[in-house]
Amino acid sequence: SAFRHEPNATPVEANERAKRLIDPGFGRVFTDHMAMIRYSEAEGWHDARITARAPLSIDPASSVLHYAQEIFEGMKAYRLADGGTALFRPEANARRFQDSARRLAMPELPEDLFLESVERLVKTDANWIPESDGGALYLRPFMFASEVFLGVKPSAEYLYMVLASSVGAYFKGGAPTVSIWVSQQYTRAAQGGTGAAKCGGNYAASLLAQSEAIRNGCDQVVFLDAAERRWVEELGGMNIFFVFDDGSMATPALTGTILPGITRDSISTLARAQGIEVREEGYTIDQWRADAASGRLVEAFACGTAAVVTPIGTVASPEGRFTIGSGAPGALTMRMRDALVSIQRGTAPDDNNWLH
Ligand code: COI
Repeated sequence: SAFRHEPNATPVEANERAKRLIDPGFGRVFTDHMAMIRYSEAEGWHDARITARAPLSIDPASSVLHYAQEIFEGMKAYRLADGGTALFRPEANARRFQDSARRLAMPELPEDLFLESVERLVKTDANWIPESDGGALYLRPFMFASEVFLGVKPSAEYLYMVLASSVGAYFKGGAPTVSIWVSQQYTRAAQGGTGAAKCGGNYAASLLAQSEAIRNGCDQVVFLDAAERRWVEELGGMNIFFVFDDGSMATPALTGTILPGITRDSISTLARAQGIEVREEGYTIDQWRADAASGRLVEAFACGTAAVVTPIGTVASPEGRFTIGSGAPGALTMRMRDALVSIQRGTAPDDNNWLH
C-alpha cells in the first residue's frame, strides 16, 4: 500500500510507558505515533503515513480555525482474552465518518483507507493498550479544513489524522452511576442542523450546558429537542436508553438531530437477540419524571464508545430532582454492559462478527 512508515526515533521508554498506563483516565495519555493522510482537490487522497506523534504547524488562516469545518470519530481497540487485539465495528465508524463528511461538505475518505489507517496505528502502538480491566486504546480519527483562506466555502484541502490514546474509565473514579442535568435553556441540534453528524461544533455547542450541569452538581447534561423542548434527545456525548418494569427498553429514534451511536446500535441488537423488546420512539421529560415516580421506569443508562454503558441514578432540573429506581445501577443495565464488554474482550461469542 501507499502508507509510509516513519518510526518515532525517540519513543517513550518502556518503564515510563508502564507508569503512564497504570491509571490513564481518559484522553490524556497518547502513544508514540499518529496516522496522517492529506487531501487536495488537485491530488485527491495522498501522502498517507504513520509518523511520530508531534505538534502540527498550521497557518493561522487555515479555515478550520475560523469556520469549524471538522469531523471526528471514536472507537476502541481491545486486548482480547486470548492475547489478540481487536477493533470493535470499525467499518461502522468508517461509514459514519463518510456520512459526517457529506454533511460538512467535506470529501469522503474511502472506507479501506480509514480502516488501514486505524489498523496500522493500532499495530504500531499495540504496546500502549493498558492491561488493566476496562482499559483500551481509544482511536480518534478526525479531519479538518486546512486550506489557507478566509472565504466561507468548503475547503479545497483537508488533513485526516488518527490519534491513539490509552484510556481507562471515562467517568472519574469509574462512577457506578451518573447524575444528569436537564438543560432547559440550551439545545444541541435542530431539524436540518448537524446533530446527526459527528462534528466538533456539536460538542462545542454542548459545553456551556455541560458547565451548567456541573455547577448544579451533575455529571452530564441531557438535551431536549429544539422545537418543543420536551423530547429527550441525548447527553453531551452519549446516547440514552430507558428500561421499563415490563422488561422492555426504549431509546430516542434517529430523527436527524441525534448522533447514531454505534454502541447504541450494538445494545439494541444484543437486547433484541436476548428477546428484549427495544422501541425507538419519542420520550418526553414529563413522561420520564412521571414514569420514574410511578415505578414504570426502572432503569436508565447512557452509552457510547467512551462511556461504554453507564447507569443514570438521578435526574435534576430547575424543577427539582428525581431518582430512577433505587438510584443504584440497574440489573438489565449491567447485563447489557456485560453482554457488550464480553464480546469486546473476546470472552463471549461474537455472533454478529463485530470484532475486526
Ligand atoms: C465517544 O467516543 O464515545 C464520544 O462520543 C466522544 C466523547 C464523548 C469522548
